Amino acid sequence: MEKESKDRHDYKPLNQRATVLPSYFNQIASSSPLKKLVYQGKRSQRCCTTIQATTLPVSKEAKTQPTSGANHTSNEASQTKRVMVIGGDGYCGLLPSTYPKRVMKLQFLVRRLFDQQLGLDSLTPISSIHNHIRRWKSLTGKTIQLHIGDVCDFEFLSKTFKSFEPDAVIHFGEQRSAPYSMIDRSRAVFTQNNNVIGTLNVLFAIKEFSDQCHLVKLGTMGEYGTPNIDIEEGFITITHNGRTDTLPYPKQASSFYHLSKVHDSNNIAFTCKAWGIRATDLNQGVVYGVRTDETAMHEELYNRFDYDGVFGTALNRFCVQAAVGHPLTVYGKGGQTRGYLDIRDTVQCVELAIANPAERGEFRVFNQFTEQFSVNELATLVTKAGEKLGLEVQTKSVPNPRVEAEEHYYNAKHTKLVELGLKPQLLSDSLLDSLLNFTIEFKDRVGTKQIMPSVSWGKIGAKPKTVAA
Ligand SMILES: NC(=O)c1ccc[n+]([C@@H]2O[C@H](COP(=O)([O-])OP(=O)(O)OC[C@H]3O[C@@H](n4cnc5c(N)ncnc54)[C@H](O)[C@@H]3O)[C@@H](O)[C@H]2O)c1
Repeated sequence: MEKESKDRHDYKPLNQRATVLPSYFNQIASSSPLKKLVYQGKRSQRCCTTIQATTLPVSKEAKTQPTSGANHTSNEASQTKRVMVIGGDGYCGLLPSTYPKRVMKLQFLVRRLFDQQLGLDSLTPISSIHNHIRRWKSLTGKTIQLHIGDVCDFEFLSKTFKSFEPDAVIHFGEQRSAPYSMIDRSRAVFTQNNNVIGTLNVLFAIKEFSDQCHLVKLGTMGEYGTPNIDIEEGFITITHNGRTDTLPYPKQASSFYHLSKVHDSNNIAFTCKAWGIRATDLNQGVVYGVRTDETAMHEELYNRFDYDGVFGTALNRFCVQAAVGHPLTVYGKGGQTRGYLDIRDTVQCVELAIANPAERGEFRVFNQFTEQFSVNELATLVTKAGEKLGLEVQTKSVPNPRVEAEEHYYNAKHTKLVELGLKPQLLSDSLLDSLLNFTIEFKDRVGTKQIMPSVSWGKIGAKPKTVAA
């Protein structure tokens, strides 16, 4: 049944405010001068307070347990004890509660706020981050420290760095939707401020408080665009006028979100050179799937599953569309080809990067995906899988809201994580069956008006067509 309340989208200019949270947490006023510099006048309302909470003292932590995919190969790896996960309440970040050592999650609940502002909801019911962490502790004995605040607030970030002294930081904490960044000026500005300043703050925090700390940063394959030559892993060797050099691979990002990732990569590469920071930039492909051994343990550990036109990713969206009898929405010609990976491989890749840290001053780039598909190929796979389950699946070409090539060459290298030990979980018939069955299980929660794309690249700032005011 369709939910009325989910169909209301309101794209008013963005005015980020502090999230209202339970009063029993300790509130700390933020007085970051950087924030004043970035957000002047009305914009300074972005986040006036930050909130910190710790679930249990670290000394009560349970014994460490083996991790699900990483081979700890170096001495440095075995010294990686404290992992800070920034953005640990999101689709990818919720999962790495599996890390073996001490984990701190640093989270700004802004993603839940976006959903509320746009009238969107996850297919799966997701519990609060607090309940997630408490349930994890009760089932596994493992403690996760939780600090709630904004990485753009350097005062808050400094305190967490000084108290936790991370050996590694996994940075998922960005605004990650290309359509969201293309809604209007305020969202474009928010996306670039949030992502670029947040990452810059993390780099400064590492330099000032934990200079041995390894940064594992989530980038995107979308940084490269779709060049008519093979895509290398971060760097390309070029001979020009008789001279040869290995240079950063050219970037051709196609949204303000993707551009924010390019800016991040440049800032990270520069600080590796200038300050000797050790960093791994994981250029991730499009993630699909939802269930892992951990999330299946209890409903309070369910991961989010976005299927809407703003945050939903291609294969996840197609599975939901098939489950509710909505035609699969292929944008334009459907020849758009990208790298994809199972969410369990996201966890594996991040664990591998942490277990095999970059050297001091090294800026590594790994292309983090396992297979390439065009949108048409995905639609065909979902149609076949749906038919096996007795679903009638149709496909419809809808006008492409994005500015992108719809037929193009695409061949991206992705060997470095495999060399570190990645065992990819490829998209098989059985996996697609189980993903479809999962979406069928929750199909009553689907708001079908969330499905059609509502943000157009060409008409940025225009009221989205398919979204009611
Ligand atoms: N999901 C994908 O298919 C995909 C593909 C390529 C790259 N990535 C990248 O992986 C990372 C994680 O993606 P995801 O799908 O989990 O996104 P998500 O939106 O589900 O989670 C991101 C989390 O970061 C938090 N966050 C945002 N800004 C923050 C800030 N200023 N301070 C602290 N926390 C903040 C959000 O509240 C959210 O919980 C992102 O950097 C994204 O760009 C994701």
